[in-house]
Amino acid sequence: MTARHPEPPTARFPAVPGLAYGGDYNPEQWPVATQIEDVELMQQAGVNLVSVGIFSWAMLEPREGEHDFGWLDAVLDRLHAGGIRVALATATASPPPWLTRHHPEILPELADGTVLGQGGRQAYAVSSPVFRDYALRMTRVMAERYGQHPAVALWHVDNELGCHVPHDYSENAAVAFRRWLEARYGTVEALDAAWGTAFWSQRYDSFDEVLPPRAAPTYANPTQQLDFARFSSDELLTHYRALRDVLREVTPHIPTTTNLMLSTGTKWMDYFSWAGDLDVVANDHYLRARDPEGHVELSFSADLTRGVAGGAPWILMEHSTSAVNWQPRNRTKAPGEMLRNSLAHVARGADAVMFFQWRQSAAGAEKYHSAMLPHAGTDTDVWRNTVALGDALRRLDPVKGSRVRADVALVFDYPAWWGAELDSHPTQDLRYADAVMAWYRQLWHRGVTVDVVPAGADLTGYRLVVVPTLYSVTDDAAERVAAAARSGASVLVTYFSGIVDEHDHVRLGGYPGAFRDLLGVRTEEFWPLDAGERLALDDGTTGGLWSEKTHLTGAEAVRTYAGGALDGLPAVTRHGVGSGAAWYVGTRLDDDAASRLTDALLTEAGVAPTVDALPAGVEVVRRHAAGPVDDAAAAFLFVLNHTAQDVTVPVTGVDLLTGGRAEGEVRVPAHGVAVVQEG
Ligand code: GAL
Repeated sequence: MTARHPEPPTARFPAVPGLAYGGDYNPEQWPVATQIEDVELMQQAGVNLVSVGIFSWAMLEPREGEHDFGWLDAVLDRLHAGGIRVALATATASPPPWLTRHHPEILPELADGTVLGQGGRQAYAVSSPVFRDYALRMTRVMAERYGQHPAVALWHVDNELGCHVPHDYSENAAVAFRRWLEARYGTVEALDAAWGTAFWSQRYDSFDEVLPPRAAPTYANPTQQLDFARFSSDELLTHYRALRDVLREVTPHIPTTTNLMLSTGTKWMDYFSWAGDLDVVANDHYLRARDPEGHVELSFSADLTRGVAGGAPWILMEHSTSAVNWQPRNRTKAPGEMLRNSLAHVARGADAVMFFQWRQSAAGAEKYHSAMLPHAGTDTDVWRNTVALGDALRRLDPVKGSRVRADVALVFDYPAWWGAELDSHPTQDLRYADAVMAWYRQLWHRGVTVDVVPAGADLTGYRLVVVPTLYSVTDDAAERVAAAARSGASVLVTYFSGIVDEHDHVRLGGYPGAFRDLLGVRTEEFWPLDAGERLALDDGTTGGLWSEKTHLTGAEAVRTYAGGALDGLPAVTRHGVGSGAAWYVGTRLDDDAASRLTDALLTEAGVAPTVDALPAGVEVVRRHAAGPVDDAAAAFLFVLNHTAQDVTVPVTGVDLLTGGRAEGEVRVPAHGVAVVQEG
């Protein structure tokens, strides 16, 4: 069983000079002459780290037990000769066709029994002992062959574990799920109690009767669904650990990671519980082209990654130079966007900027996905951007190892996400990521830096703690939030928080259960709204999606509903607690109302934006070199101008990108970036 929040990683960063720069490199798709040119062009671009071998299993072991390493030996030697380090994959991210042909029992299944076949990628069930065995063998072969190769700086286990198959409902999964449940509950009686199986004749008499929540006539047991989500995340982690342990045994000198998918789009892996098993945290992030504020979601993803990394520098393992190939319409990046995207990750703690992929494929499903070197070759803007980014990263060398500091914590929790969006709830319209982003966006636009932290984290020292829609919460995690308020923080809790315990049992006596006393309110009934329906508040602002029939039990009403069935009842409340305060918001505030409340909270908490007078659409983040908190000389101010106008931002120091000095302010051109070493 996975501990929820083990120690953050020890951050054994791969040994590359300066910030790492590069991408996925798939040389097996190209003739040797092209591979030779690759190294020359990588040198031109300043590339110093590439991920190799991710999807190479079928080329490395074309027939069972017969290996062909010649081509990879040559690739690694060539990269080494060119001074480029390698994040070497275990090559296990996609089983070769001979393996699924001989062992179709390794294939994963959907909830409706559909077996997912070979022909794409990731066609394996991590709980298949047969697959595990083959993957372990391949990993050992890779470690033994390449563990002493001087190019290898990092192990890259599998690839985006759970990307395509976060949940597998196969018989292998059923067996492993039962084992996991036995470890969690000990007895079937304990499982029955936790799952509330007195309901709908679901009582189990033995673990053997339990199944994954496969397609059923109606709603599957919610605790079964949650435990299956927990199990599935743990099972992927268990697979990672098994492969990682082989690597540690054979090559203890090389750090190990796998690329996570930390964003508002990936729900099913509880990455906070994975963190302690990675030597360094690596993340893949792709902009959603339809989102006009995709760059704000990017910032959230980067802050979340830093949270998973426990504040340590992390690797941006993949993003795109321009278009992707997997969205309905794949938008090309605008001039300046790729540099801004890259440096936004660096601003928020990345010490490596990497892409999918080095050279754009000529064949296969990803041939229309951009790369560092596009189909059209080097006389292209994409290539010029690649070279310019390499140059920028070299100039940012001094930033390496510095840290981001924040006065604001936003509590983010994967099991709460799973729980909040379960079926058979008061509304089907609630989206956890929207509830989180509503507040993150307010803070982003004010230039306030946020640490995204797991439920249960120690919140001491934060001045403002935001707890959006934390549907399920343990007693311990609820107490951490209360302790923050008692010791002087302003705490904001929003609707549908604290409702259930970790087994999805309602905390009785009135909502919001676990936070009722802290907030000094009691809700007797939820009043979800129709799609598009709006509720007026007494200051003329509005809310939507959700409302509640709430009574004050110690708090004061800051805003009340105006009109309708809840007329005069509290919508926003404040409860003085110790030297701090606990605020509750029982509806989804529209922007105006959320904006007013954010201002009030920042003022009360004494949180200042990173710089004063920040122009709209401009992102600012500061990284601090190790040292005393007030050591301004060792600070780097990142200014990212996402607007079409030139802007000025107050700061004094040297712009590392241009070498120019900023006296009192830096001018950043439209769509441009400045990184000022202050002092
Ligand atoms: C990632 C994956 C890469 C590539 C990329 C395309 O999910 O790890 O191999 O497919 O997406 O955007």
